[in-house]
Amino acid sequence: MPTPSTVILGTGAYTPERILTNAELSKTVDTSDDWIRTRSGIRERRIAAAGEATSDMGTHAARRALEDAGLKPADIDLLIVATVTPDVPMPATACIVQQKLGIPTTSACFDLNAACTGFLYALDTACAMVGSGRYRYALVIGAEKLSAIVDWKDRTTCVLFGDGAGAVVVGTTLESGRGLIGSKLGAAGESVDLLCIPGGGSTAPATTASIAAGSHFIKMKGKEIFKLAVRVMDEAARDILEQHQLRADQISLVIPHQANLRIIEAISQYLELPMNRFFVNVDRYGNTSAASIPIALDEARRTGRIKSGDVTLLVAFGAGLTYGSALIRW
Ligand code: ACO
Repeated sequence: MPTPSTVILGTGAYTPERILTNAELSKTVDTSDDWIRTRSGIRERRIAAAGEATSDMGTHAARRALEDAGLKPADIDLLIVATVTPDVPMPATACIVQQKLGIPTTSACFDLNAACTGFLYALDTACAMVGSGRYRYALVIGAEKLSAIVDWKDRTTCVLFGDGAGAVVVGTTLESGRGLIGSKLGAAGESVDLLCIPGGGSTAPATTASIAAGSHFIKMKGKEIFKLAVRVMDEAARDILEQHQLRADQISLVIPHQANLRIIEAISQYLELPMNRFFVNVDRYGNTSAASIPIALDEARRTGRIKSGDVTLLVAFGAGLTYGSALIRW
């Protein structure tokens, strides 16, 4: 009897209607369309409507993934939401999505925080849990409302981020060779200070003074992050390829975390793989953290960039500094 492998049965994405262009941003902070495009490749980003929470975006993306998989909320027994922008600190956004979707109360629901690598951490966790045979179908959501945690007066960060959500449904197949064929996760905790929200947690609970000082907003050392991102993503990609005895040119499509076009171009050079093998949508959405890979994955599938038998490499880095890679054969 062959062992079942874990597969992605469906994908879905949701991005808010409101488009915030670089030109509009340059009216509120000291920046320009030219600076943002040349330094990051971003032209515009989506911004959630007032009252639209991370769980709302995640729920929309999840409905689309379920529909794509031909499944119903009642079929799901595991729900993981990867996010750094939960609706509230407690309870988990996964429980709020569970309620909005009508997922059975017998399902396991939890959030996972690995910043921009969150989706890869959640996918690996879901595959391990479903692969164990103890769960049948998992919904894995990456959803973020980063517009809620960026300082709109800080031009060094506010130009980079956007809102949105992506989701996948994980199940099993007996067809050998398909599905998640490998995953590699890591974290370089010595770099926690490079990208963080210093206030509002147990170290420095929110006070009137901390709020006035803006310590509940994202703080980032952009240049250091850039260099580390290129190094850890290149290593994460090389390690997983080597582990599975694949050459880079055997990868049909790389779906990298969409943080900065120049980071993606550097990975393309390091792996000696042309940019047409990389999926890029950072120009339209900016950095949507844990939502970036599942949104890109859904767009890649729906635009015919992924075909049966293709091997896709997913690779990401994020605050922590977390990093990870995954190989999927379709
Ligand atoms: N508009 C205009 N000028 C700006 C802006 C802006 N939005 N932001 C910074 N500048 C200025 C700086 O003040 C600086 O001016 P100075 O030379 O007078 O001091 C100049 O532009 C150059 O700034 P640098 O920071 O050196 O620019 P750099 O080329 O490094 O690009 C950037 C900055 C885009 C932030 C880049 O470093 C980067 O993308 N880093 C990675 C960030 C990232 O990916 N973060 C997400 C991590 S993932 C997650 O988990 C959330």
